[in-house]
Amino acid sequence: MSTTFTMLKPDAIANGYMGAILDHIIKAGFKIKAMKYTRLTAERAGEFYAVHKERPFYNDLVKYMSSGPIVAAILEKDNAVEDFRKTIGATDPAKAEAGTIRKLYAKSIEANAVHGSDSDENAAIESSFFFSMTERF
Ligand code: CMP
Repeated sequence: MSTTFTMLKPDAIANGYMGAILDHIIKAGFKIKAMKYTRLTAERAGEFYAVHKERPFYNDLVKYMSSGPIVAAILEKDNAVEDFRKTIGATDPAKAEAGTIRKLYAKSIEANAVHGSDSDENAAIESSFFFSMTERF
């Protein structure tokens, strides 16, 4: 078993998709190890996405990710990082495969409904950004 980290982003929550997306994730075989309904300050959002600091979309991304509540979660499954990226689909929902979370629930490349870690190393870093070891079950 391995784990990955996800966030249901502000657009997913604002559009009323929190329950549907969590249901999709659970039905795809992921077990929730930790979960938090919270909101990022601009400072925390900037820190989370610091790896994208030089990208042209960074400032807008920070503003957007701190614009409303999110759900942060740690998910467990065999091959969790890769399988979850398949479950959510391409970053740009227009390019995401049919049946993926982004195809079903996202509207734009920025407001793309969910985040999924891109490696085991980043899954560990991102999980620790939100959760202590005692908050994982
Ligand atoms: P995420 O997988 O969370 O990682 C970085 C985020 O930046 C991405 O999803 C999008 O929400 C956002 N983003 C905005 N514009 C772009 C872009 N042109 N390319 C990639 N990511 C973008």
